[in-house]
Order: sequence, then C-alpha cells, then structure tokens
Amino acid sequence: MPAKKSAPRKSTAKSTVARLPKAKAKPKQPAGSAVPEPGTVAQLISYAAEQFAVADLWFGHGTDNAVDEAAELVFFASGLRHDQADEVYDLVLKPKQRAAALQLIERRIRERVPAAYLTKRMWFAGHEFYVDERVLVPRSPIAELIDSRFRPWIDPTKVQRVLDIGTGSGCIAIAAALALPNAKVDAADVSTDALAVTRMNIERHSLQRRVRAVKSDVFEGLKGERYDVIVSNPPYVGDEEMATLPEEYRREPKLGLHGGRDGLDIVHRIIDQAAAHLQPHGILIVEVGNSEEALVASRPRMPFTWLDFERGGGGVLVLKAEDLRNL
Ligand SMILES: C[S@@+](CC[C@H](N)C(=O)[O-])C[C@H]1O[C@@H](n2cnc3c(N)ncnc32)[C@H](O)[C@@H]1O
Repeated sequence: MPAKKSAPRKSTAKSTVARLPKAKAKPKQPAGSAVPEPGTVAQLISYAAEQFAVADLWFGHGTDNAVDEAAELVFFASGLRHDQADEVYDLVLKPKQRAAALQLIERRIRERVPAAYLTKRMWFAGHEFYVDERVLVPRSPIAELIDSRFRPWIDPTKVQRVLDIGTGSGCIAIAAALALPNAKVDAADVSTDALAVTRMNIERHSLQRRVRAVKSDVFEGLKGERYDVIVSNPPYVGDEEMATLPEEYRREPKLGLHGGRDGLDIVHRIIDQAAAHLQPHGILIVEVGNSEEALVASRPRMPFTWLDFERGGGGVLVLKAEDLRNL
C-alpha cells in the first residue's frame, strides 16, 4: 500500500468510498419515467436510478452513483444476490417483489435515508454487517488496510491484540478479527446503542470468543490494556462541515460524525494517550478524513504517515509506538 509523508491533501467528507458490490452490468432497457409494468429487474433499476437523479439524492453510504444504489434496493427487495446479477437482469419480478422494490425506492426518495438503513445491511472488507440508525454506515477506507492484514506497517504474525476505538457496527474490529485468526480484538465505543449493534455483528460472525464489545470513552474503560494495533475511525467532522452535510448524513448518529469545532477533539485524545496502550512494536491507525490538514497544522512535528488507497478515500494516518513515545 503506497504511503506518503508529504503535505496533506483534500479528501472527501466523512469518507464516501463505495463499499457495496458494484452492479455487474448496467441495465439494458432505456430509462423511462413511467413505473415499468410488469417490470424486469433491469427496468426497475433504470426507473429507480432516474427517479433518484431527479430527486437529487446524495450517494456516499456504500455506493457512489444512482444505478448502484438502485440495484441494491431492487436486489434486496426481490431477494436476489448481487453475484447473480448477470443472470437476473431480464427476470420479470413477481407482483410482491415489484411492490417491495417500489416501496423502498419511494422511501429512499421521501425520507432521504441511506439505502443501508432501509435494507439493514452493508458490506465491509468483503463481509456483511447488520446496520441501523444506531451506527454509522460502514465505509471506511481502513477496509483496504485490513485486507492487507495491516502490512507493511506491522508483521501480522506479531499481532495478538487489536483495539478498535469507536467501533459502531463493529465492522473494523470484526473484519480485523477475521483477517487475523489468532488475534483477540476489543471493540470499544462510548455509545450503548452502538454497542448493541456491535454485539449483534459479533454473534453473526461467531466471534464471541475473540471479539469483546467494551463500553469506553476513548481509553477510559481500558486502563492497563496494551495492544499491537490500535485502529480508529472516530468522529472527525468539524462544526463548519457538519452544517453543510447532505440530508442523508443527518440520518446517522451525530455522535459518530461530530468531532468538535475543528473535528479533532477525539483524534487528539487518541493520539495523546495511545503510547500508554501500545506494545513497543505497535502501531496506531486513525482516520481523520477532511480534518487531515487541520491535524497536521496543529501538530507540525508529528511524523504522520498518510496512506493512499487503491479503492479510494484518504485521510488515514499511521504512527508507530516509538513516534508517540518520543513526543
Ligand atoms: C465514525 S463512527 C465509526 C464507526 C465504525 N468504526 C465504522 O468505521 O463504521 C465513530 C464511532 O465513534 C463513537 N464515539 C464517539 N465518541 C466516542 C468516544 N469518546 N469514545 C469512544 N467512541 C466514541 C461513536 O459512537 C461512533 O460509533
């Protein structure tokens, strides 16, 4: 994974990287504004995508365009899998499937709610997670780092304990546990509501013996604990950006997004206290998104390494335990 130590770049708002399976092929039928009757999968996707464009929806919660978003809702409502996409585009939906799809399409437009809160599911690092309004919709580019088992920043065989601060759905903690079958993972969050969802996902992936949901305000509930990897996608949106976020982000818990005036309240707490919780060879990974520039300006001597991601997204830093100890 490429990295740089140079000046910060501008990235997207609270990462908008697409994480759902891409529609395998684009629908063949031309889009029309009338509701297709009886309606193939492709026709319904085209219809929904057109309606989404007219309604000027925002896509940043698992998809980055109207067609992929429409495909997820139509596939979900019809009980179809994305890996069947090539075979099912010409399928005529049964009346019940069609009605369910149309209802989701209408709700997506009327309520401006991210598709994942309608379907109650999202993929992250190739795994499916339960999600609802108690947690942020998973979309962190940290998934790519988990896919590479945190290489080259640490030798995966040396990772025995991982901490995920601000775990939400538990996506980072659980995906890390699945990528590192010998590691134990603490999934920490200050929100009791979020932790209820974390626990559902821990059970769903049968990881009760290796992943522990912990109520903790940053490190407060983790006194004396040490880790090889501390990873976090904390709230990092500042006041100004909060005020301009598209409607869809307002459906997510504010506690998951808002990081104080400049977005860095929690980030600074993590950086200041991480050394006391890292093994000597340990690493700290924190996503700060658009707040990268403000963080670098506020800590000009800190030797941040900023990661570049092949699948998009940015504003993720790596610090070594030794960098933090020598501050
Ligand atoms: C951006 S969300 C990330 C959720 C999940 N890790 C992900 O990547 O989708 C940030 C999470 O941090 C939690 N959080 C906010 N303040 C916190 C604090 N002081 N200590 C621990 N967790 C906190 C929120 O409840 C939320 O679940």
